[in-house]
Formats: sequence, C-alpha cells, structure tokens
Amino acid sequence: MDCSRTMINDRLHINRLFSPLASNPFFSFSDKRPFRPSSLKFQTQFPFNPSHIQVDTNTRREAVVATTYREALEFADINWDSLGFGLVPTDYMFMMKCSQDGKFSKGELQRYGNIELSPSSGVLNYGQGLFEGLKAYRKEDGSILLFRPEENALRMRMGAERMCMPAPSVEQFVDAVKLIVMANKRWVPPQGKGSLYIRPLLMGSGAVLGLAPAPEYTFLIYVSPVGNYFKEGLAPINLVVENEFHRATPGGTGGVKTIGNYASVLKAQTAAKAKGYSDVLYLDSVHKRYLEEVSSCNVFVVKDKIISTPAIKGTILPGITRKSIIDVACSKGYQVEERQISVEELLDADEVFCTGTAVVVSPVGSITYLGKRVSYGDKGVGVVSENLYSALTSLQMGLTEDKMGWTVELN
Ligand code: COI
Repeated sequence: MDCSRTMINDRLHINRLFSPLASNPFFSFSDKRPFRPSSLKFQTQFPFNPSHIQVDTNTRREAVVATTYREALEFADINWDSLGFGLVPTDYMFMMKCSQDGKFSKGELQRYGNIELSPSSGVLNYGQGLFEGLKAYRKEDGSILLFRPEENALRMRMGAERMCMPAPSVEQFVDAVKLIVMANKRWVPPQGKGSLYIRPLLMGSGAVLGLAPAPEYTFLIYVSPVGNYFKEGLAPINLVVENEFHRATPGGTGGVKTIGNYASVLKAQTAAKAKGYSDVLYLDSVHKRYLEEVSSCNVFVVKDKIISTPAIKGTILPGITRKSIIDVACSKGYQVEERQISVEELLDADEVFCTGTAVVVSPVGSITYLGKRVSYGDKGVGVVSENLYSALTSLQMGLTEDKMGWTVELN
C-alpha cells in the first residue's frame, strides 16, 4: 500500500468532511434536520495542515475537488462478491465519552483500531454494556440510505435506563451515525452486494471494583461492510428448539440489547451448530412451551395467511426489523397478530421466518423439537416471507418509494 498517498487522502478526506470552505456536496443530508458537526471533533494521527501540500491555492482547490470527486466514486478495494457477516475493518470509528455530569460531549472520529480500557471497567467486570445494529445501503445513484436510525437511538436509551447507564440523546446518536457512515463511505457496498453494518456500543468504561454503575461511559460506533448473516445465504435455515437453556427470564434483561444476552446463548448455539443446525430457537422459561426468539433475531409463523409473532413482554428484544415487517405486512393487507405462540403451533405452521437487522428476513426450512424434524414448504422459500423480504429490502435500498418515511438519505 502507498502510505504517503493514504496520508494525503486522509487530510483531504478530513478537509472534505469538515472544511468550512466546503459548500461541501459530500456532507449534506437530505433529511430535514440540519447536521451540526460543531459538537464533534476529528482526531487523527496526521493533523491536517493544508500547507503540507505544496501547491498554490487554485491548484489545491482543484485537487480537493478532483479528490473528493474521485473519492465519491471510489469504493474500497475488496472483493464485494464475497461478503459474509464477518468484520472487515474500515477507516474510522466514532468515540464519545460521558463526563461526570452524565452528559455526552465532544464526540470525535478516530482511525479504526484498538481502544484502551481499564481492567476494572464496568463493562469488563460486570457486563455493563449495550449494543445496537443498523445498516446503511447504497442507492443506485451512489447516495446512501440509513434505515430508521432514530429507532436504534431510542432503543439504546431504553436499554441504558435498564442498565443504569447514561445514553446519548437521539440527536447525538443519529448525528454520530451519519458522521461515521460518511467518513467510511467507500466501505458501503455497491447496490446489491450487501450493506454497511453499523455497530454502536455503549459501555461502562470507568473503573469499579465493588458492584456499582461505572463512573464513566463510552459511546463508540464502528462499521463493517456485510453480506448475508447465515452461511446458507438467502436459502432457508434449519433451527433447533432449545429445551434446556433459556435466553431470558421475566424481570430480567431479555428485552434490552445488553451484551450479556448474547454471551449467554453461545453454549446452546455452539452445540446446535456442531450438529449442523443454523441456530437455536428459545422457549419461555416459565412454561417451556411458548416461542421467544432465535439467538440473533425474532421469529414469525404463518398459518392460513395469518402472520403471528411472539408479543413483546420484557423477555423478547423489540426488533426494529420485527416492527417494520409487521407494518409492511399490515400495509399489504395481511392480518398480523402479536401474541403467545406455542411450540405446537410452530410445528403446525405453513411457513416460518426470522427477522433482524443482521438477518433481514430469513426463511426457515425446518425446525427440530425434541428430536422430531418438521420441514416447511418443501424446503423452499415461503411466499409470505419472500413477499415481505422483497418489500422491505426494496424500501431499504431505495428501489421503491419510502411511503413510511423510514429512510434517511445521506448525499
Ligand atoms: C443485529 O441483527 O443487528 C444484531 O444485533 C444481532 C447480532 C447477534 C448480529
């Protein structure tokens, strides 16, 4: 790699993002709210100083224009056809700390890399942490769409309340997401090749020894281009119903996106994968009979064209894709029910599918419960899930008009 070129590109890139010179066509947002980077600071190992570039002003301006034009068209040099759901490190991450007064301020972009954390931090010792997941999609014209970022901001605030953490405001969260996506724009896959997965983290970064909320918090966002979540791609997945382990209990934290909810499913998930299943479907911990969710996504069943999904009652994550699919299905005339669903109903369904930011809409080909395997629709993709997948992803990628007002366009 030519590092000198990278350094100059860094400086021009930073200039492009923040220069007041810039009637900057690369940092305007077409949603109504103005973007104010004033509370955000940019940190880099290479302090930007335009005088380092030894050219006269006109030439420099032309160079900036030429570079920004080139970069706008430029994609990172990776094989876009081989994306799975694995980390591809990108250029920048966003970091913002919470001061003693409980308010977050002075967010900044940093080069993507390892972070420093006290061995005694709340997140490492007591799991005081939350994460979010959302996606940015490339439109056909090269511009970028975010999908419902305010919903993630609100969900993080809800989770933070449960975990005794301060949280960024909705505006701080959404501005930071816009900033990190624009700074990593070249990593947003070409349309049809995947999306940019955005991973906001909120953690107790301050040191504690006795069990207590941490004295300091860090909000961090990193991103990675991704393709399909399951190795099956868009083909139906095979789930096993877990009978011994539970994901959540009433009064616990199942309904918020705390990191511990995900560590606790690894044992059952690893055992299931070793037996060839794609993932695990959990039952409620009280009756051991009603559907909860899959390790990484919500579940829906279809019977006689009626779509049902477990009701949100504190043990199930209120998925943003779940909620969007319910609305899309209603708008298409389907009857949708949020209620208790027994495992017997699951086995008797016409179609089963999962929803989540990472998995999108994933059809289920078979379910195994107590050693008995039930297959759906001759292992094909069900009509309902295909219909909903196509409606949702067309909207997310800007291929159909967004009548819901869910997408936020970044230019
Ligand atoms: C997501 O779908 O964004 C999630 O957070 C699930 C995660 C396990 C990949």
